[in-house]
Amino acid sequence: DSTEITNSGGADFIVVANRLPVDLERLPDGTERWKHSPGGLVSALAPFLQRNSGAWVGWPGVPDVEVDKFSDDGIWLHPVTLTAQEVRDYYEGFSNATLWPLYHDVVATPVFDRGWWDSYVKVNRRFADECAKIAADGAIVWVQDYQLQLVPAMLREQRPDLRIGFFLHIPFPPTELFMQLPWRAEIIRGLLGADLVGFHRPGGAQNYLWLARRLIGLEPSRGAVGVRTRPGVVQVGDRSVRVGAFPISIDASGLDATARSRDVIQRARQLRADLGNPRKIILGVDRLDYTKGIDVRLYALQELLSEGRIDPSEVVMVQLATPSRERVEHYQRMRGEIEQVVSRINGEFARVGHPVVHYLHQSIDRKELAAFFSAADVMLVTPVRDGMNLVCKEYVACRHDLGGALVLSEFAGAASELTSAFLVNPHDLDGVKNAMVSALELDPAEGRRRMRALRRQVLTHDVDRWARSFLDALQPRQEQTL
Ligand code: ADP
Ligand code: G6P
Repeated sequence: DSTEITNSGGADFIVVANRLPVDLERLPDGTERWKHSPGGLVSALAPFLQRNSGAWVGWPGVPDVEVDKFSDDGIWLHPVTLTAQEVRDYYEGFSNATLWPLYHDVVATPVFDRGWWDSYVKVNRRFADECAKIAADGAIVWVQDYQLQLVPAMLREQRPDLRIGFFLHIPFPPTELFMQLPWRAEIIRGLLGADLVGFHRPGGAQNYLWLARRLIGLEPSRGAVGVRTRPGVVQVGDRSVRVGAFPISIDASGLDATARSRDVIQRARQLRADLGNPRKIILGVDRLDYTKGIDVRLYALQELLSEGRIDPSEVVMVQLATPSRERVEHYQRMRGEIEQVVSRINGEFARVGHPVVHYLHQSIDRKELAAFFSAADVMLVTPVRDGMNLVCKEYVACRHDLGGALVLSEFAGAASELTSAFLVNPHDLDGVKNAMVSALELDPAEGRRRMRALRRQVLTHDVDRWARSFLDALQPRQEQTL
């Protein structure tokens, strides 16, 4: 296996991401423990890496900790230390109050702060240095996501022997929006250090190619970029940088097996009973993020209840929301708003012992989550913008019984694959309400037909296929098997 760590200490295959797949948690009594990190990047990549031994360079999730490398679930973890100031400026600031809103169609206003940018440059250099230190000769280094867009060029400068890939897990914005960024040319140049730059959708790849021409004066290929095939190419000196579309996915068969296990089936039944055996259960599962449109579905529910189109004695909604980026102002504001709507709905429509919305601001373990997916009649995934969205694919993977219905936003990357869902425009509240009612009243035979089509897509396009197609395209041209 070419991905084994050699005796010389050099790693042949390295994933570098802002976060390690596990987060260090400091408990109030002073003890520490490691827990699963939040978000889709880790959900997708961790199972792939566990099956293909390699190293993972990332931050342990809390400031100012120095931890030596250690092995976890077959992966070598190399912690990178961030100071409290860097967490504020590089992570909460530039990554999550500048790039995150800018790349998600400016649904919140991005903040442009020069001090944050300086910190972003400095921390990217630290990640690049760590990779340069641990990579074996000619190793593959796979850089992940918007927090580390300068790493490819910084790493190439030190280690031209490496094969460097970069994948963006969030949308790449329309060029007009990207052009707002004061450091736009630096970001495009940073990514050009890679041999392959990957996006979820062809549109992102095309936008990037356009910017390489406009901002750097390069001559990229002009043909349309296709999914997994036909990458675009930019010549940078004597190197070709390929630019392609690789829609990410989940460990579909693993989750399918989990959902079929006896304890998950029993737990799903128990959850239904705990919720009072309502006629229908509606479910939302998200990181608590303003891009996810949690407010949209709550407002839709509120109106449907007010209009008498949903009967609160028959329908229950569960919203599971993982705490996320809690010190960033945009997130604090949105959390306040969501919690207010939840309590307004319950204030108006609940009975004692029977809330209409069950809201859990908590991270739920994988098996419990599979039980929630199995118990839910209607799954609401309504982001105003989402690179892919894995939650909708997880729901589908859990429905081996062909039950349930998926309401999915057109603005999630997954919408172009999951065409048998009830697709909605989250800005059109009446459209969302109608889709919710159609999903609640879905004829079972029609529901099975839709779910069968959805499962065919998800089970045949899993995360291994995604990773292999990316890594295959990263090989030098003559070695490619695609
Ligand atoms: P993002 O990466 O923006 O958070 P995705 O939908 O791509 O969005 O991935 C979210 C991941 O986090 C999924 O694997 C999902 O199962 C998980 N997740 C979301 N909410 C919760 C929750 N409340 N508890 C546990 N896991 C959650
Ligand atoms: C999204 C991003 C990831 C990020 C995750 C969780 O999936 O694409 O890069 O890790 O959200 O966010 P956090 O800020 O907690 O790492």
